[in-house]
Amino acid sequence: MVYDYIIIGTGIAGLNAARLIPEDKKVLILCKKEPVDCNTYWAQGGIASAVNDDDIKDHIQDTLTAGVNHNDKSAVELLSAKSQEAVKSLINSGLQFDLNSKGELAYTKEAAHSRSRILHADGDATGRMIHTFLLSQCKHEIVNNTVVNDLLIQDDICYGVQYFVSETEQKVAYAHNTIIASGGVGSIYRYHTNSTAIAGEIQGIILEKGLSLKDMEMMQFHPTVVKGTHFARKPLLSEALRGEGAFIVDEQDNRFLFTYHKDGELAPRDVVSRSIFDYHKKTGSKIYLSFENFEKEAFQKRFPNIYANLKDLGYELPYDKVPISPAFHYSMGGIETTLDAKVKGMKNLYAIGEAACTGVHGANRLASNSLLEGVVFSSIAVEDSIKNNFKISYKNYMKDIKSYVRNKDIDKEIKNCLRKSMWDTASIVRNPKKIKETLELVEKYLQEDVGRLLFLRLLTAKSILTSAQNREKSLGAHYIKEN
Ligand code: SIN
Repeated sequence: MVYDYIIIGTGIAGLNAARLIPEDKKVLILCKKEPVDCNTYWAQGGIASAVNDDDIKDHIQDTLTAGVNHNDKSAVELLSAKSQEAVKSLINSGLQFDLNSKGELAYTKEAAHSRSRILHADGDATGRMIHTFLLSQCKHEIVNNTVVNDLLIQDDICYGVQYFVSETEQKVAYAHNTIIASGGVGSIYRYHTNSTAIAGEIQGIILEKGLSLKDMEMMQFHPTVVKGTHFARKPLLSEALRGEGAFIVDEQDNRFLFTYHKDGELAPRDVVSRSIFDYHKKTGSKIYLSFENFEKEAFQKRFPNIYANLKDLGYELPYDKVPISPAFHYSMGGIETTLDAKVKGMKNLYAIGEAACTGVHGANRLASNSLLEGVVFSSIAVEDSIKNNFKISYKNYMKDIKSYVRNKDIDKEIKNCLRKSMWDTASIVRNPKKIKETLELVEKYLQEDVGRLLFLRLLTAKSILTSAQNREKSLGAHYIKEN
């Protein structure tokens, strides 16, 4: 049988696409682990949106300024112009954002926004609320524990996907439209805020097929995760905390960020992460997030989940300072797409959300534009596919399905070395000599007899390193220091 759609991924982009596809269509949603194993679920701060028509130009300008004008301006204009409609569509279908004391939508502020324009839900669990809501709306089949290992592509047509359903068994599914919404590359890095399911494998397949990834050197590091925890996914301390009064200090309580940027803690994310990294390196001081501007009750009400999580870790907020450090957070780079959300060069293959590089984020994503991008571009993809009504004719296609080995014994050690090397070299500050060494290491690993999933992850890592090597001057999140 041929599905109308295959959607790969169950984060905000994939589930919103599923919500918008008419119920009578045959849709297969492939989920790598369980639906909650996505980055959306962990998003705290919120979803950015132009507050009204007058705010569109400022939202565009803030996005471009944070992105160091490396953005695709038409994509940014599209994102902002569609932002109010995107949010309304969620609200009209029943999603409840937090309201202020007057019963109006409560907007908060985050770094590098010139005004409060971030909507939030359940205080500081916006991602979880949106995810739970979209999942409850999903009328199509979701199959868990299915790991895509290939896209069935011939010329400019995608016929479907091939995927593991267990350690050894694989299946093939055909579709008139395939939508990639599988997220970014988090697990390629040692320290990250992402779901551990996210490892950039589909990006590797895209490269294998001769399609393009774009801006892969542009990796975003969130400035404030709780330092010293043993979790693979580092606990995030939302930027909304700083937007509402938390600040960053050293061991002597100095707010040192103002020596790096006039906006201090509210400077663009890349600047704050880099400054923390540099200050710690120069002074050896531990770095903390201080909450002393908050009243306890108000803090608990506004940030209930962060309060509870930190209590579990032994911190009593707002009285305790919490040790922080930056960690990998988001991939601005990804599968190159056109403004109609199609993978560049393809007729019926779409990429949306963090997996895609629409160009909206440029060299540094503006806070909370990611959930917005997921909603806006998923609706663009669905609209476009309905308008195109593309039909594959698959009968003569793919007699020769490849047989892949999912994992091999050697993989675990290589994965750990890769994560460490990528963190040490392709992260907040980049040294060309070290990037070259890691690239050589990755080339060597690619010659080893590794499992399919690690091979794809290595291809993606290679693309990050090659792009970093090719961009010889610092720009936004790509910051070069020779020594
Ligand atoms: C946060 O809450 O700080 C994360 C929001 C984002 O990544 O945009």
